[in-house]
Amino acid sequence: MKALVQDRYGSSDVMQFADVDVPTIGDTDVLLEVRAASLHRGDWHLMTGLPSLVRLFGFGLRRPKQRTRGMDVAGIVHSVGSGVTAVQPGDPVFGVCRGSLAEFASAPAELLVPLPAGVSFEQAAAVPTSAVSALQGLRDAGRLSAGQRVLVIGAAGGVGIFAVQLAKHWGGIVTGVCSTGKLELVRALGADAVIDYTTDGLGRERYDLILNLAGNRPVSLLRRSLATSGTLVIIGGENGGRILGGFQRSLQAMLISLFVRQRLTGLAAVQRRSDLLLLAELLAAGSLVPVIHRVYPLSEAKDALRMLEAGDPRGKLVITP
Ligand SMILES: NC(=O)c1ccc[n+]([C@@H]2O[C@H](COP(=O)([O-])OP(=O)(O)OC[C@H]3O[C@@H](n4cnc5c(N)ncnc54)[C@H](OP(=O)(O)O)[C@@H]3O)[C@@H](O)[C@H]2O)c1
Repeated sequence: MKALVQDRYGSSDVMQFADVDVPTIGDTDVLLEVRAASLHRGDWHLMTGLPSLVRLFGFGLRRPKQRTRGMDVAGIVHSVGSGVTAVQPGDPVFGVCRGSLAEFASAPAELLVPLPAGVSFEQAAAVPTSAVSALQGLRDAGRLSAGQRVLVIGAAGGVGIFAVQLAKHWGGIVTGVCSTGKLELVRALGADAVIDYTTDGLGRERYDLILNLAGNRPVSLLRRSLATSGTLVIIGGENGGRILGGFQRSLQAMLISLFVRQRLTGLAAVQRRSDLLLLAELLAAGSLVPVIHRVYPLSEAKDALRMLEAGDPRGKLVITP
């Protein structure tokens, strides 16, 4: 089968479009015929091996253990392991797999859920990792409740587009922070207010919940925009260097949190079937609408990775074999 593979860590230049074997599956796995995949920032981390901390989590110290990139997927079940009863060959599903930038991918059956009626493979593939991160950032780490003022920093990115919609869905009053060209998109997603970070600061407003997805604002600056008993959730951002990356600010925030009234915390999103099922429901109801910047054929997936590297996309980049 065709796949986009890598044998060393590096920029998108290390990726090669190659012929590789169709993956083998274990007893609790599914072999999927990939119909669509999507990229997210985590694919960039695994492609580059940066920050170096990610390599300690079993991804390979010197080179990537798994050659094919891509986690988010939508496709048709081709075959199932002996212990799988929840899905059958022919079922359309979406979720998380190992190596979705390929014609076939193996996935734990647990992390695949039925494709909702009326939702395309491209739309569903855009959802899993980014939307789960937004959901867990708002609901679990952020403990969002209706009526709270929510600031989403990085509102037009892969996670941000879902965070704005979910925060509105759960009754938040949402302000989105993004660059000039993306203001309209963030408004269209339902944000009550927008801030153009290229021309304006965060302003004098105090928020009950801040979701930090981008930029390198210090924790002390973010705290100034947080209500006295507000919550700051650091999900991502650029500072912290090559070893710790965004984790540095999360650790800082958690340490400061011990001494102040505000809750300052980080997030390590975990893929859960229950969250994928909830997202499938919201997709089916039209409460969550993926924003797809562009769809690339698999043979041009390297261009999509370049686009991801540059940080330009409005929403998600989708790849179809
Ligand atoms: N902790 C976890 O479990 C977890 C899970 C998922 C993602 N993440 C992290 O979360 C972050 C966001 O992921 P993503 O997939 O949404 O990335 P993305 O698609 O690259 O989006 C980032 C967005 O931030 C905007 N941005 C850049 N600088 C900014 C600034 N100073 N202020 C406000 N916005 C700015 C970018 O566009 P414009 O500059 O044009 O507005 C872009 O739209 C990444 O760091 C990722 O590693 C962490």
